[in-house]
Formats: sequence, structure tokens, C-alpha cells
Amino acid sequence: MTDDELQINVKDLHFSFFPHQEILKAINLEVKKGESIVILGENGSGKSTFFLNLLNLLPNFSGEIQINGKEVNRKNEREIRKKIGIMFQNPNDQLFLPTVQQELEFGPSNLGINGNELKSRITQVIDTLKIQNQIDKKTFHLSYGEKKKIAFASIFAMDPEIYLLDEPYANLDPQTKKEFSEILISLHQNNKTILIISHDLNNIPKFIKRAVVIHQGEILFDGLINNLYNKMEILQKANLDLPILSMLYLKLMDDFHLEKILNFPRDVDDFLELFNKNGIKNQE
Ligand SMILES: Nc1ncnc2c1ncn2[C@@H]1O[C@H](COP(=O)(O)OP(=O)(O)O)[C@@H](O)[C@H]1O
Ligand SMILES: [Mg+2]
Repeated sequence: MTDDELQINVKDLHFSFFPHQEILKAINLEVKKGESIVILGENGSGKSTFFLNLLNLLPNFSGEIQINGKEVNRKNEREIRKKIGIMFQNPNDQLFLPTVQQELEFGPSNLGINGNELKSRITQVIDTLKIQNQIDKKTFHLSYGEKKKIAFASIFAMDPEIYLLDEPYANLDPQTKKEFSEILISLHQNNKTILIISHDLNNIPKFIKRAVVIHQGEILFDGLINNLYNKMEILQKANLDLPILSMLYLKLMDDFHLEKILNFPRDVDDFLELFNKNGIKNQE
């Protein structure tokens, strides 16, 4: 497929666990190959359910979902699932084998990779994720954060085209968050399609430019993250806080009567750049 083709195409998706209680309502979403998106929304808004629908892991959605132009249905789901690596919100839902080594080998083995190729793939995963100390451990001995890392490693080992990451940053220590972001940047550079679920605007890697906000099973916003920061009514409705540095900048803007800005800072570098441009100079 070419970069312009849609890798994920969701049309009028509706889903309910129980009759007359729609969890997803008319979701439409187009994602191109190599695109990266953050899906935002408060607890219970339907984000995880949406991911599970993309893999046909929940019965009987209505509407249409296509992955690489192929309709997601019982007949195609096995083939489609090979292209998608999903990291579940709770790593305990993901890991099920006795040892870390087995967890890492399971996915690629299922794709028909074995022998030396499998060995070198696992070595690469261990080196990239720096999990040398965990490889010989029993899965159930791992801490929650370690389990998340191994859950990610197990899908990374499959080298999927699409990564669906459900709250990958929750419960990780700062160093692991940083390592995660670096890996995601390299996946992005390798033209992987990445969808990340989050309810925290603070930890979104900067290469992600597009945000989709889900509220009570409906898409409230689909566009550039920078444009979302100006939409206070959407942020409030979806129960999302601006990143802490953006809040600080807004406060300084008010207190020091700085010019209004369109692009809010996402990290310290952004903040300093804006402050140097609009802040200190304006005060001279
Ligand atoms: N297996 C299930 N059976 C019944 N209801 C469920 C199930 N899983 C999730 N839900 C409900 O669906 C809604 C959306 O859940 P979820 O997609 O997990 O939200 P989010 O990931 O945005 O926090 C919630 O109200 C939740 O209680
Ligand atoms: Mg969830």
C-alpha cells in the first residue's frame, strides 16, 4: 500500500455491550499509513472499547471497519490481527505465559518466525527495550510497570504495521517513559502507524500532531493537538487538563499581559522558546 492509502477506515461504528446502551456512537475515523494519533477522553468514554473493535475482539459492532482496505469481520480477522500490535490497558490481560522469554517468542513464532531469525529478533527486542534483567524472570513475578514493558516488548517483537497502545505511559517511571518515547519516535520514523490512548495531555510525544477526543462514545474533536489547546469548552467537557506547562504559560500570559499565542508549549524546550520570544523581551 502507498502512504496515501488509508490504513484504518472506520465508518459509522456503533457498539453496545447491552441492548439500548450504546458505548460507541457513529464513530468515523480515517488514519493514513505512518500517521500517529493520540486518542483522548475521560474514563469510560469508550477508548479501550474502540481499540478492541478494531481487532474484532468484541462481538457484533455495526458500521464498517477496514484495515489496509480489508473489511474487519470473522473471515478476515486472523489476517488483520497479524498487522496490528495491541498493548492492552492492563498488562495482566496481555501476558499469559510462565516466563518473559516465552512471552516474547509467542507472537513472532505465531507469524512463522523460528530458529536463528527468532533468536536475533528477540535479542534485538531485549537490547532496544533494555530488558536484559527481566528476560529470565517468571512473568507473574514482574512488577506492574515491568509487565507493561514486557507487554510492549511482546508486540514490538512481532514488528506490526499498526501499534495500538492503550495508556502506555500510565504507571511507568520517568526513565521508562523516556525510553518508551524514544522507541515510539523510531517506530514513527520507520513509517509505523501509531494510535495512543491517553487521558493525560502531559506525556504525549511531540511527534504526535493529531488528537481525537472521545466523549461518551462520540468524537468531539479530530484535528491538530495545537488547535485543541484553544478549545477550552471541549477540554472541559471531556474532562481533560491542559499540559502543566501550558497552564503555567497561560497564567503568566494573564499576569504579565503577554500577547495571546496559538501554539501552547508541550515541553520545557517549547516553554523556554515561547517565554524567550514573548515573555522576557516583552518585559524589557
Ligand atoms: N466487558 C464489558 N461489559 C460491559 N460493559 C463494559 C465492558 N467493558 C467496558 N464496559 C463499559 O463501557 C464503557 C466504556 O469503557 P472503556 O472503553 O473501557 O472506556 P475508556 O477506555 O475510555 O476508559 C464504560 O462505561 C465501561 O463500564
Ligand atoms: Mg480504557
